[in-house]
Amino acid sequence: MERFYITTPIYYVNAKPHLGHAYTTTVADSVNRFHKLMGEETYFLTGTDEHGDKIVQAAEANGQSPQEYVDTISSLFRNMWPEMNISNNDFIRTTEPRHVEVVQSILQKVYDAGDIYFGEYGGHYCFGCERFYTEKELVDGKCPDHLTTPEYIAEKNYFFKMSKYQGWLKDHILKNPDFIRPERYKNEVLSLLESGELEDLCISRPKSRLTWGIEMPFDKDYVTYVWFDALINYVSALGYPDGDKFKKFWPKANHLVAKDILKPHAVFWPTMLKAAGIDPYQSLNVHGYWLVKDTKMSKSIGNVVEPLAMKDTYGLDAFRYFLLRDMSFGQDSSFSEEALVGRLNAELANDLGNLFNRTLSMTHKYFGGEIPRPDVEDIEDAEIKKIGQDAMQAFQENYADFKFSRGLEGLWELVRGLNKYIDATAPWTLFKEENTGRLQTVIYVLLENMRKIAVHLWPVMPSSSEKMLEQLGIQFDPEKVNLPKELDVWGLLESGAVVAKTSNLFPRVDLPEPKAEAKDADNAAQKGKSKKNGKQSGKNGEEVGTIEFEDFQKLDLRVGTVKEVEKHPDADRLLLVRVDTGDAELRQVVAGIADHYSSDDLIGKQVVVVANLKPRKLRKQLSQGMILAVKSGDQLQLLTPSAEVAPGSKVS
Ligand code: MSP
Repeated sequence: MERFYITTPIYYVNAKPHLGHAYTTTVADSVNRFHKLMGEETYFLTGTDEHGDKIVQAAEANGQSPQEYVDTISSLFRNMWPEMNISNNDFIRTTEPRHVEVVQSILQKVYDAGDIYFGEYGGHYCFGCERFYTEKELVDGKCPDHLTTPEYIAEKNYFFKMSKYQGWLKDHILKNPDFIRPERYKNEVLSLLESGELEDLCISRPKSRLTWGIEMPFDKDYVTYVWFDALINYVSALGYPDGDKFKKFWPKANHLVAKDILKPHAVFWPTMLKAAGIDPYQSLNVHGYWLVKDTKMSKSIGNVVEPLAMKDTYGLDAFRYFLLRDMSFGQDSSFSEEALVGRLNAELANDLGNLFNRTLSMTHKYFGGEIPRPDVEDIEDAEIKKIGQDAMQAFQENYADFKFSRGLEGLWELVRGLNKYIDATAPWTLFKEENTGRLQTVIYVLLENMRKIAVHLWPVMPSSSEKMLEQLGIQFDPEKVNLPKELDVWGLLESGAVVAKTSNLFPRVDLPEPKAEAKDADNAAQKGKSKKNGKQSGKNGEEVGTIEFEDFQKLDLRVGTVKEVEKHPDADRLLLVRVDTGDAELRQVVAGIADHYSSDDLIGKQVVVVANLKPRKLRKQLSQGMILAVKSGDQLQLLTPSAEVAPGSKVS
């Protein structure tokens, strides 16, 4: 059986988890689930990085001891992941004895091999990065990341002979094209390795300056540099050197990080592994940064996006879908709720949601909810099957390559293709014409393809995928899925099984109301505009007014079922229509529809009623509302829901 090991960075515990952490961990979760469905044995690790100056400073600022402080923040991370349906197998903390032991044993091994030496060093130390910078690396004398002037520190320390492995690392990267991906980051590392001599790495801190770290096994006066300690989590969690998990999963190690920590992962870590006699990891996968309005997220700007707030507002799966679909892996992306709502409405509510709602409702209307047995297949069916195969293949290949957005784009070819297939095959006409054989095939083709889509979406939206499958009468079991086989296998959906009446997994959403200050500013700007321009006019000079969302919300639109119809005693064109709108008594509406509808047409029909229109008398008859209709030429059509709903259901 193939194996797959995925890791996230272990996060610093100096701040609460935010969008950036949630993104990386969600990607890792998604990849992990994907490989599971590909039939592999997987292992997924995340955790927290708890040593170093930064943590000590944050603890002090919080009035806590380092241990108390790291316990608190680490559990914020640990407890957040289940809330985001993250399925990690382990959560490692660098303060755990199982990790400390392995760090010390690796240090001793590398020291014994002669790759660690003691030396004097003076350098520009950035406390934010917890590392020394060379003159060359500084930009105008400042740390390129924090834009602060580093402190010059001269002290005796232990050094790892990283420079010794420069040639080996370059060769390894060139021989293994997937070692660092995407390509741009591989090129960045190669040009760094080609630009000059790789320096040795200072891997200790004197205890006189810092005690919150792992003691050097060969010198009690020093603790380990936080990066040398932290990177080792990827093997300590597997029980290096003898653990079963280490033997099983290390050869398939895939690290996932953002571009901020490329160098430690692409240069420090492989050379450390080489020096310790451990095989290099399989692949380092590097993504870009989430920005907010093109700016870095930061507490001081106040633009930090809270993942749990997004989940609460839009639903976890919609949020996960957005993260995976919107960011092109490797590049930076700008986060905005507008973009999230846009994708949710267009791709989830419209494309996917409608496909499910329409097809389930037709299965009920035409076959009492039972999955029909397909009859002979037509050219249209072969075409949509081919679209499906291509879409699933695109999804699988791109997902295996960490190209999530492209994978989803590929799968949506099938989602959209199926919506078009419905329009082209027009099942309602087949039903009217009693073309039952064809109708059976069309509905079966739709449902079987929907099953395939739902299975492929499990890595992206696990709980919605399970619900979609349940709606198709299937109990989901990841062990029983074989994604590669889905390309060719057909007909797993059992005829005769009963599907759900509706789906409704992805309702349309509105953008939340802007905050009061922002709204005031908008209003002021709007007023200014209309004063300047007078009233805006449309094409033909008519006024085009817009209303506020609150104005729309004032409308009480409801679906009602027509129960009684009578002619108006004094007007030929009017009918007295009595409708059940979920109230205790029937509601009478005087409607000018007598030329278009008879009493027989109307009784039992569902209509949309404006229920809070002020009652008034029309030719002495009380009218309690209005029935909505569309006029097209001479025709008048009453608005009606696409499937029957309970009388009184709100239209929104
Ligand atoms: N502790 C180190 C990692 C050690 S791994 C052996 C560290 N921690 S961190 O808390 O700063 O996490 C950095 C990681 O968080 C990034 O590499 C990325 O995975 C995630 N992100 C933090 N902010 C981010 C964005 N704005 N956008 C995307 N991901 C980012 O570095």
